[in-house]
Amino acid sequence: MEKQIKRIGVLTSGGDAPGMNAALRAVVRAATSWGIDCVGIRRGWNGLINSDFIRMDTSSVSHIINKGGTLLYTARSEEFRTVDGQDKALGTCKLLGLDAIVAIGGDGTFRGALDLSRRAAEKGSSLRVAGIPATIDNDIGCSHYTIGFDTACNTAIECIDKLRDTMQSHERCSVVEVMGRHAGYLALNVGLSVGASAVLIPERELDFEKDVVEKIRRARLAGTTHYMVVVAEGAGSAMEISERIREEVGLDPRVTVLGHVQRGGAPSAQDRVTASRMGYTAVKALAEGNGNCIIATKAGQLVTLEMEEALQMKKEFDMSAYRILEALTNNCGPL
Ligand code: F6P
Repeated sequence: MEKQIKRIGVLTSGGDAPGMNAALRAVVRAATSWGIDCVGIRRGWNGLINSDFIRMDTSSVSHIINKGGTLLYTARSEEFRTVDGQDKALGTCKLLGLDAIVAIGGDGTFRGALDLSRRAAEKGSSLRVAGIPATIDNDIGCSHYTIGFDTACNTAIECIDKLRDTMQSHERCSVVEVMGRHAGYLALNVGLSVGASAVLIPERELDFEKDVVEKIRRARLAGTTHYMVVVAEGAGSAMEISERIREEVGLDPRVTVLGHVQRGGAPSAQDRVTASRMGYTAVKALAEGNGNCIIATKAGQLVTLEMEEALQMKKEFDMSAYRILEALTNNCGPL
């Protein structure tokens, strides 16, 4: 019979994502509603190593559902990659009487969650760990969706719509770099949403002549006088792409690297709802005696996956969005 959960620790780790606060709120409020104590671990896995924590109750998460960033701060922890760091973290869990940890973050966070759960098992600890996917990159293999992605897309779209106004007026080419780390989900969704002339993503090998030069030439022939090229940071640097456009097409592009602005801002409805549902489901799974798990989305539904299995899953990149983008760009038809 599983040990009943009496106290959980919750943390946010890795790059912050809009909606992390909403997930935190949901975890604390759901736990409280089941009579489970909640402790906020600050600064990601480092907080668990250094006993950096705060007691949390329903009022400590008031007025944060609409806020970007994370109330608990976040960090990437090198020390937590070591067995020594994990042992210190287990010491803190014991000291605080934590039966479970809910970790909110991306793949680095989940790697930490897996390491901690394995080390706990090795040491005979009954600690359980649940993961909630939150990253603007949407690059978690086991989950179709990650908290923060929709807001980041909307932020990038808003910025690019503004760029388009000035590019149109000056009849210029704009090269915009968006985040996403090694993945092109953000770039592709944003490119589709702004009607980009070309989108460069790491999932597709770049053929500069075909993917950029030819598209701009065709657009020019079709009467377009401004061009929007969206580059995923994992596919190359906007500066370099711009230089090649200057050399090979003869345009004078302007470069915009959107950067960390994409990580901030009030979460969208989709991110607030997903975060609230995932936070609630994580606590429910733990309270119902689930072992180490990841809360994920699959075909629009929330699912609770066994952690080891979940973290081996790979996400198939959906190229259909790329094909749609190509079909809808006015430069792709026959000459
Ligand atoms: O993983 C989220 C993310 O914003 C990536 O898109 C980006 O590559 C990275 O974090 C930036 O990290 P940092 O905040 O450490 O500069």
